[in-house]
Amino acid sequence: MTQATTRQADSVTVDFVAEAEELISHYPVSKRSASLPLLHLWQNHFGFIDDSGIEWIASKLDLTPVNIIELVTFYPWFRREQAGKTIIRVCRTLACALAGSYEVKEKFCQSVGIDPHEEHHGFGCAPPTSPDGRFSVEFVECLASCGSAPVALVNDDLVENITTADVPAIVESYK
Ligand code: FES
Repeated sequence: MTQATTRQADSVTVDFVAEAEELISHYPVSKRSASLPLLHLWQNHFGFIDDSGIEWIASKLDLTPVNIIELVTFYPWFRREQAGKTIIRVCRTLACALAGSYEVKEKFCQSVGIDPHEEHHGFGCAPPTSPDGRFSVEFVECLASCGSAPVALVNDDLVENITTADVPAIVESYK
């Protein structure tokens, strides 16, 4: 069986449904407002959002799939492909760029075995990922921690004041 025939929605558990319904209950006026929370829930659980996920969320919210697709294609946070187990998001906005974030990102790429010049392939695609599937590295915009630039979000952890010399130890701590 190829990956394309594996539908994420077939793996939805009772607990997952309960969690989704609890999120929807926060929006009694319009279930549509639960679209983003459900997309986050889905991506956190499955790693990315396939067609069946889009259909499942749309159906749960009494929407059409295009209502969900437009969110997935608008927000770069959401992916339609599997990324690395650890995702390193380096801020490239002004304060971080001036403090060396481009060099820091290059060092992260080198440390995990990604070509530093490999481009992100666009909305919905996974960011460049190491051959062993453990790490993805990408640039993001301001992470609202400009005073401690340069910073990166490593999975859900904000790492501040990063120097290139710090990078190997940071990577090691997520192996
Ligand atoms: S510019 Fe990097 S956190 Fe704001």
